[in-house]
This record gives sequence, C-alpha cells and structure tokens, in this order.
Amino acid sequence: MSTSASSTSSALTFDITPRVDPVTEAEREVILSDPGFGNYFTDHMVAIDWSTDEGWHGARVQPYGPLLLDPAASVLHYGQEIFEGVKAYRHADGSVWTFRPEQNGERLQRSAYRLALPELPVDMFVESLRQVVQIDEAWVPSAPETSLYLRPFMIANESFLGVRPSQRVAYYVIASPAGAYFQGGVTDVSIWLSTQYSRAGRGGTGAAKCGGNYAASLLPQREAYENGCAQVLFLDSENGNRIEELGGMNVFLVKSDGTLVTPEINGSILEGVTRDSIITLAKARGIHVEERPVTVDEWRAGVADGSIVEAFACGTAAVVTPIAELKSDEFTLTMPPVEDRVSMSLRQELTDIQYGRIPDVHGWLVRLDAGETTEA
Ligand code: COI
Repeated sequence: MSTSASSTSSALTFDITPRVDPVTEAEREVILSDPGFGNYFTDHMVAIDWSTDEGWHGARVQPYGPLLLDPAASVLHYGQEIFEGVKAYRHADGSVWTFRPEQNGERLQRSAYRLALPELPVDMFVESLRQVVQIDEAWVPSAPETSLYLRPFMIANESFLGVRPSQRVAYYVIASPAGAYFQGGVTDVSIWLSTQYSRAGRGGTGAAKCGGNYAASLLPQREAYENGCAQVLFLDSENGNRIEELGGMNVFLVKSDGTLVTPEINGSILEGVTRDSIITLAKARGIHVEERPVTVDEWRAGVADGSIVEAFACGTAAVVTPIAELKSDEFTLTMPPVEDRVSMSLRQELTDIQYGRIPDVHGWLVRLDAGETTEA
C-alpha cells in the first residue's frame, strides 16, 4: 500500500492512503440529496490492527473497500464481533460535530470485555472518528435532520477454528450518509411484541453491542414486518412480561402527569447514549424519570385508564421515534392521539443541541472537522 501522508493521534500514527477514484462531486450530491439509512458509504475507512504480541498497531485511513478475510477467521464461525453507532452533524456554519463520543468509546470497551476482545483506548476511538470525518468531510450532509452515520466495529480475524478468544483482531470505522432510520421519515411506528423469542438472557450478551444480539433479533424482526410493524419489542426471558428493548433501540413510556418510565439498566439492556441523554434532558426540565421494571400489563392498563399517554423508541439511528401502536398475536394497543407530545419536544431539544441550534450546556459536542479539535 502506498502511503501518501500520515497523521498522529495521542498514541498512534495513521497512515493515510487517499482513494484514487473517489465518487465524483455530482454523484455524491445525488446520494446526499436522499441518502436513506445505511445505503451508501463514503470514499474511505479507518483500520487498526491488534494482536496479543503487538497490541494496537497499523492505524491507517484507506480507500473504502472489501476486507480480505481468511475463511477460517474466527468472526465468521463464532461471531466474535462488536460495533458502535455514532453520528456526525453539520452545523449551520459548516463545522462538523459529534455527540458524546466518549460514551460510545466506553461502551465499545464494555462490549469488548464481554466478547473477550481487546479494549480500544477511548482517545483512539474518538481519533478514529475524527480521521474518517476529516478525509470524507464532503460526505457530511447538510439538509435538515441528516447526518454522517459512523459505524465503528471490531472483528476477530485470527485464522483458527478452536473456540477461544482470537489473538488477532481488526477495528474499522466506515461512514454512511444518513437520513431518517425508518422508511417514511420521522413518523410514528408500529411495534411487534415478540412473545416467542427473547433477545437476551441472564448473564448473556444483552448489554453488549454485538452482532449476535442483532442476528437473534432478525427472525422476530421478519415476523414484525409480516405484521406491518417496523421494530420488535422484546420481553425479559425470565418472566416474559417485563419490557426490555426494541431490536435496535431503547423504549420509554410517558405518563399523563409527564413522568417518563423506562426499563432500568439490568445487564440485558443496551445502555443507550440517547437513552441517557433523554433522561438528562428530562430531569433538567424537572420531569420525573423512573428507571424500573415495566410490564406489558402496566402499559396496557395505563393506556386503558389514561395514565399512559405516549410511548417512544430512541437510539442513535432512530433519534426519538414515537410509537403509534403495540401489536401482538393477541391484541393491538393503540396509543391515544396527543397534542404537544413530550417525545417530540425532547427530540427537538436533543437535535437542536446536536445540530448546534441551541447552546450545548451539557458539554456533549465534540468537533471533528479540521477547523478545530476542541470541545464545544
Ligand atoms: C444505532 O442506533 O446506532 C444502532 O446501532 C441501532 C441499529 C441501526 C443497529
């Protein structure tokens, strides 16, 4: 590989190999005008290698393209893989910022621990985001509510069929211009309640962001599509009555007195950065937030007696998406029509911070473009 430049982070130097045939500006503009979610990828990617002997090494920015994997690479057999989801936002002055990246970096470390993968230092994680954004800055869209979705991931790539933690690992960051996650844009969604399948069990990998959790959600997700729903709601595997999370996002209920209720972090739920941010914003407004077990029966009874008035999903990709109805084999629970919804107001405040439309009083934004590298 011919290296034409390099850039040093606190501990690693990134060799930079620009793509010789980047997407033309005209093609890119067409893509950015309607990116959807996860359909297109920028010209470059970040890669860092790890081995038991050398630790983290070989940091580079290289043209986006297929990975060369030995067919015996352990990720292909035993699924030793983790990932993250982070967004880069274009502000009105053209600068590019990300949101609480150290939270994602720390979660990647927790996921790595659970999957017996090496823990990438958080400053290297943030630097890896900066590297891909700086080389592909033109790919950060500027239309309202669009962003560059960054997908850091780590795979076990030792060629070995014995079942043990891999001694060779690779970390990558790819980037994808993104609009709304759900088809149809920012709109209320129907949710399918999976009564047959669980997402996570006690002591399992539910709190880790690993591909295996998402693989296990795909059959119920197909069931959701067949029933006209966009996402699956999973219940706890022990009792089968407490709500846990959706296939790829956390869930909140809103009571008629304004209280927010969300399942507590219990080892089988992903510790969502958006979840935590919503809780912080709500508490700053004086809203009472309850993190505790919530059952489907409580949700149904609350809608029936008027004490539960909203439900919403949240995550990096979904931001905050209101839930219109919860469907299962046995019932359909329709959320009531509500004016001035708390969910949409929290969504507005969150995105106003992310897009730099209001002051970032929590110190959540980190600048990624080459203009400056300080915090907001
Ligand atoms: C995210 O919100 O970033 C996610 O990872 C959810 C999904 C796209 C897998």
